Parts: sequence; C-alpha cells; structure tokens
Amino acid sequence: MKLTADEKKMLAGKHGNAVKKSMEILVALGEIFGAKRLIDVASVQVAGVSYHNLGDAGLEFLEELAKDGKVKVLTTLNPAGMDLENWKNLGISPEFAEKQKKVIDAFEKLGVVTTCTCTPYFVGNLPRFGEHIAWSESSAVAFSNSIIGAFTNKEGGPSALAAALTGKTPEYGLHLKENRQAQVLVNVKARLEGTRDFGALGYAIGKKIGTKIPLIKGIKKASIEELKNFSASIATYGGTGLYHIAGITPAKTQAPKEIVSIGESDIEAAKTALNDAVEGEIDLVAIGCPHCSIKELQNIAKLLKGKKVKKEIWICVARPVKSIADKMGYSKTIEESGAKFACDTCMAVAPLKGRFKGLATDSAKGCFYGRGSNSFKTKFCTMEECIQEAIE
Ligand code: F3S
Repeated sequence: MKLTADEKKMLAGKHGNAVKKSMEILVALGEIFGAKRLIDVASVQVAGVSYHNLGDAGLEFLEELAKDGKVKVLTTLNPAGMDLENWKNLGISPEFAEKQKKVIDAFEKLGVVTTCTCTPYFVGNLPRFGEHIAWSESSAVAFSNSIIGAFTNKEGGPSALAAALTGKTPEYGLHLKENRQAQVLVNVKARLEGTRDFGALGYAIGKKIGTKIPLIKGIKKASIEELKNFSASIATYGGTGLYHIAGITPAKTQAPKEIVSIGESDIEAAKTALNDAVEGEIDLVAIGCPHCSIKELQNIAKLLKGKKVKKEIWICVARPVKSIADKMGYSKTIEESGAKFACDTCMAVAPLKGRFKGLATDSAKGCFYGRGSNSFKTKFCTMEECIQEAIE
C-alpha cells in the first residue's frame, strides 16, 4: 500500500504510540484486502463498547490508547452494557457498572463523543451522500451506505477506533464505487406495514441472497423507522452492508441479471421463524432495536398513556433523543406506566443472561441477538403488540 510522507511518520511512531498502533492496524487491513492507499474519513462510529463484550483485555487496550491518543474526526459510540445514568434501575450490578464506566472514561479521554447509540444519524453523527466514513455497527453501516449514500465498510471495533485516531481508512470494499453496484434483483410482492414487517422482509431477503448487494423493487414507501429496522435485519440475516431500493435509496445502480422473488409467504415464514417462545414465557419486552426515533417515542407514549405495565419493558434509545421526549412530556407518560428507558444500551449488549426467559420485540435483529447473547426465547410482534404484551 502506498503511504504519504505523513502516514509514514504516523506508522514510524512520530505522532505517538496510539497513532502508531492505529496505523499498524490500518496498514495490515489494507494489505489483506488489497487497498492501494488510505483515504480520509469524515466520521467514525465505534462498536465494542459494552464491558460485557470487551472484558478486561478490551478495557486495558483502550486505556493504553488513551495515554496519548486523541480522535481526529467526529467519533461516536455504539450502545454500552448499561444505561450510564440509571443502571441501577435496570438491575445492573455495581461491579459491572464500575468497569463499564472505566470503558466510557477511556473513550472520553480519547476525545470520543460518548453518545452510545446504534442510530448515530439521529443524534448528530450524520454523514452526507458520497462521504467516506468508518462505522462499525452493522445496522448503521447498512443505513448509512444505503439510505444516506455514504461510503463505509463494516468496521470492527479496533479498526474503527484506528480510523478515528488517524482520520484514515484503507480504500477497499464499499469505499470503491465499482463495488457498490447491485448484484441481484429482488422483486417484492407483499403488503408491508410497520417495523416488524420490514424486519421480516430483511430476514427473508437476507436468507436468500446472503452478502450480495440487492436492488429491491416493489416497495412503494417506507418510513425512516421501517428502513432502520430493515437495515438491521438484512445486515443480520444476510450480511450485506449496502442495498438499493428503487424509488427510495439515492444511489444509481445497474439492474443485475440474477433475480429473486419475495412474496407474502416468505414474510409469513420469517415471522414464524422468529417466534419460538411459548405461552407464558415472555418476561421482558424491548422496543428500540435499532434505538428509537423521537417519532417512535411519541407513539409509545400514546400507546402507554393511562396504562400500567405488568412486565419489564425497556425502551432503548439514545440519551439525546430521550431528552427531546423529556421536553415533550412523552418520557413522563412512558415512565408513569412503569416502562423503563434503557438509554445508551439495549437488551442485547446488557448482561441479562439468566435474568429473563422470553423476549417480545418488534425487531428481527433483536430476536437474533436476544437468542444468541442472552439465550432468550423470542416473540416477534408489532410495536402495538409489544405494548399489549407488557400491559396484559
Ligand atoms: Fe442496536 Fe442493540 Fe439492536 S445495538 S441494533 S439495539 S441489538
């Protein structure tokens, strides 16, 4: 890989140890993937924030970088393992909280904006069309590449942090225009409404096409909330970091030769596959995977007004979005019902294994990670059914 004079100095340690380590990661990655050079990035989003996943080794790595490192571009974080303010309310242990706070302190020392969310585009980390970025949360990667038209690979936690500390990333994969063309045409003939349906669609398409980039036809309209759930689902069940939807996404692409069809039966099969909880097994309801928009909080407040919940229910959201809801009175209505906000975190990255048996959620991705990391049985519902499940 060809490095500029300044990049060579970074690699030689002239800009400090954190930059040197970061350059080593980026150069190794670039060489593995055949990149010719490094390019500048406009923003970074770092995953691997929960102490639950990082452990002591991850914490030590961050503290080492924080000795002399400072991020060069706007950098935000993925959800942490707990609500950074109200962790006690969510049943998190003081031992875990202490470690998680150390992780956040290290990021803060590095100059990272410690807004912990998988929807950074709702809270000021919003790239524009054609801009190169280095993001790591898979749903946010699919959203930014597809809906916004920014250019990013799906970074791992260390490579995203390396991009933040240098302002650079190797130019390969989805940073190259020629790699962003659709590879399979997906004709959708199904009625789709709400976040659950779009999550089911992501599951159905992802299972059929894997990591290929689709051009999807047949979707007449979709809200931002539906598209964020779709992004999360297709990235989880297929693995693509980019999709095109005719009439909705901004980038131009050629129509590919390979054709796949998705019908009502595929959507129904997806819904069935994501339900494995039996009657009486649900003891946790979670909404906000990916993290809620203010419109979703408005809707949740409307559905919970004057009601009392009987089950644990978490509303997962970025703290700045919740503060808008505070101002509008939505938070008060939601909390008066007994529902809990889970700011900065979610039911998948929080250490919940063994505390709950069954999870009800409107998120297809939430079902995958709820089953995986916390061994929950899952019930895949609409937002309205989730609320009903909690108040029944
Ligand atoms: Fe976000 Fe957690 Fe879902 S990180 S996408 S709320 S699994």
